[in-house]
Amino acid sequence: MTSFVKIVGGFAIVAVIAASAVPFVARADDKDAIDYRENIMKSLDAQTADLGMIVSTQIPDDNLVAHTKALAILAKQAQKSFESKIPGGDAKPELWANYADFQKRMDDFVAKTADMAASAEKGGMPVVMEKMVPALTCKGCHDLYRVKK
Ligand code: HEC
Repeated sequence: MTSFVKIVGGFAIVAVIAASAVPFVARADDKDAIDYRENIMKSLDAQTADLGMIVSTQIPDDNLVAHTKALAILAKQAQKSFESKIPGGDAKPELWANYADFQKRMDDFVAKTADMAASAEKGGMPVVMEKMVPALTCKGCHDLYRVKK
């Protein structure tokens, strides 16, 4: 057992983590894992919308680099959030059947968003406009592995 105490803004958060990972067994845990990855996807959606507003000059580009960084971080979070391999939500059974392909797509998404963030820092708007569409591979993955609404 490892325990650690973290003080955040005056509140003490005590977390006890079992050294040996307990596999997901209970339904509530499964639901948490699905809620978690769906929340990350919603954050990706919001960040993509914000970046869209910037490149279409609806709003100033002050946060351009920060949004590309947020997308790169969220892509990594998304990748991790599927590693528990909990079926359900709007993830199609094909996702788990073709998990290696899904992982490859996640790797590609992580690499391209990281590259866009690094380039944005140096090249600003022109490189983001060039790299955005190839980096945001959302639809390609959804078409294969997400249940259509
Ligand atoms: C490699 C695959 C993959 C990539 C890349 C990907 N997604 Fe997803 N996305 C999924 C899967 C699978 C689900 C269904 C997850 C579930 O319901 O458990 C999903 C669900 C969603 C949802 C619905 C969340 C909810 O409320 O249920 C949104 C919104 C979304 N993705 C946005 C995005 C955006 C925006 C991007 C790109 C910037 C993106 N996704 C990239 C696979 C992907």
